[in-house]
Amino acid sequence: VLTRKFSISTSQNAIKTVTVIGGGLMGSGIAQVTAQAGQTVTIVDLEPEILNKAQKSIQANLGRVAKKLYKDDPGKIEGFVKESLDRIKISTKVEDSVNSDLIIEAIVEKLDIKQELFNKLDKLAPEHTILATNTSSISVNAIGSGIKRKDKFGGLHFFNPVPVMRLLEVIKSDHISEDTYQTMMEWGKSVGKTCITCKDTPGFVVNRLLAPYSAEALRMYERGDATKEDIDIGLKLGAGFPMGPFELADYTGLDTNKFVLQVMHEMTKHPVFEPIPLLDKMVAEGKLGIKTGEGWYKYKK
Ligand code: NAI
Repeated sequence: VLTRKFSISTSQNAIKTVTVIGGGLMGSGIAQVTAQAGQTVTIVDLEPEILNKAQKSIQANLGRVAKKLYKDDPGKIEGFVKESLDRIKISTKVEDSVNSDLIIEAIVEKLDIKQELFNKLDKLAPEHTILATNTSSISVNAIGSGIKRKDKFGGLHFFNPVPVMRLLEVIKSDHISEDTYQTMMEWGKSVGKTCITCKDTPGFVVNRLLAPYSAEALRMYERGDATKEDIDIGLKLGAGFPMGPFELADYTGLDTNKFVLQVMHEMTKHPVFEPIPLLDKMVAEGKLGIKTGEGWYKYKK
């Protein structure tokens, strides 16, 4: 009994309380799947309006989830939504929200701001708390370079939209312990995700492979080798992709596309990630995809 007290549990229930820092697009999605899975979650953001917006969008999404989940038993819909919402707390103060088993950071994609946050969390959070970043393009090791609990730190890279996308990349930082890693994998499963693992390598698995593919698609179109419509159809019908590269870029945003290429180029120096003039032109013209009504294709606003 005595030794058990001091050992870290790797049971499926190791994580019961979660804090998500950043209540934007990703943070609100991560909070939603956590609450849906029956865990208590606190969302922290600097802006009270963002927190209100997050609560509203989570409520609407939970309604949709519940309708699907209980299509044969609609009496349970209201209860599911209410119970899930009741598990979500909001706060504008990191200091008051660190008492969790797992803290996931989903704030602005800037190294120094993330480092500052993790240094603070390392000092304030209970000793057993695991710290994780949802970064998609910064080195996980660099983000945690100033913290002491390097064995309890890694990456949890979700995909947008979080409640819909089934994948979670669990990133092994250089000093992560086996216990922390296993706990992160089990937690990912507990919120309904299929987890894959990789080292702290640029772009992790998915973006490392997606970025060159989308860059080459843009170059083909830029050279006039094929139309964007035909490239999209080609990849969908010939390779089984659910969306073609131009459709996907419109969905994720051409600005994000450009940013990912830029960061990958800085990190790898690989020529496939070099800037693409046509993409730069589109971004400069504000044609960013679905969110602006026009990208590679036009959309009704
Ligand atoms: P977002 O801009 O929608 O949300 C970021 C939120 O963080 C904002 O609400 C902002 O007020 C808040 N924030 C900024 N600094 C803060 C601080 N110090 N303390 C508390 N809150 C703070 O951004 P989004 O898209 O949700 O991205 C967040 C993170 O997730 C980034 O690291 C991004 O690279 C990563 N990511 C984004 C994906 C995407 O498709 N958008 C996919 C996977 C990862």
